[in-house]
Amino acid sequence: MNKLIVANMKMNLNKQEIDSYLKEIENKDLSNVIFCPTSIYIPYFLKKNLTVGIQNISRFINGSHTGQISIKQISSLKIKYAIIGHSETKNEIDEIHDKVKLCSEHNIIPIICIGEKEDTKLEIKEKILEEQLDIILKDIKLDKVIIAYEPVWMIGSNKNIDTFTLHHISNFLKNLVKKYKMNDIMLLYGGSVNRLNIKEILSIDSIDGVLVGNASLDVYQLLEMIEVA
Ligand code: PGA
Repeated sequence: MNKLIVANMKMNLNKQEIDSYLKEIENKDLSNVIFCPTSIYIPYFLKKNLTVGIQNISRFINGSHTGQISIKQISSLKIKYAIIGHSETKNEIDEIHDKVKLCSEHNIIPIICIGEKEDTKLEIKEKILEEQLDIILKDIKLDKVIIAYEPVWMIGSNKNIDTFTLHHISNFLKNLVKKYKMNDIMLLYGGSVNRLNIKEILSIDSIDGVLVGNASLDVYQLLEMIEVA
């Protein structure tokens, strides 16, 4: 199929675990994978020539912002992608917009997370998603953007997304994004994706890939998912 897998490793694994993870994936074809490890481990992934994304960026360019990482610092490394607006970062919508704008100005491809907070009717989901994208992408020009549809209530739930709903929403989003007039838009799904349900999710034409959290921590499960994608 050759679809994209974004591995969002969140705040997991220690240095020894990262070392054995990297050993297991050595010499594998990982051309369709973006690894988003905890920031302190990024240099180890870059050293192996893997494609890397950061899990979040600061809204500020530099200065007194203890614990934050700026877009300038990110783009001075070989990091090409940034997850923006993941629900676990609790960013407000205007903050997400500002961060995407920074990506557009510094040549970083944003992986923008959108999604409704709780399960609801299809029409309401559509309305929420459109409102989110309208604010996030307002006055922004990007050549390439990745949009991850992540229903917040599905993240870490270990439930399987209803594929009828996913089919409907992904077609809706693929149609909707045309109005933002960007050249290259990819659509991902994220929320409890694992080796058992990935095939069905990726069989949906309008889905270009998946954003995987927990299941990406198990390197064997990740390798199985890469085979399917
Ligand atoms: P999950 O996380 O796969 O563990 O549900 C996905 C995400 O938070 O991006």
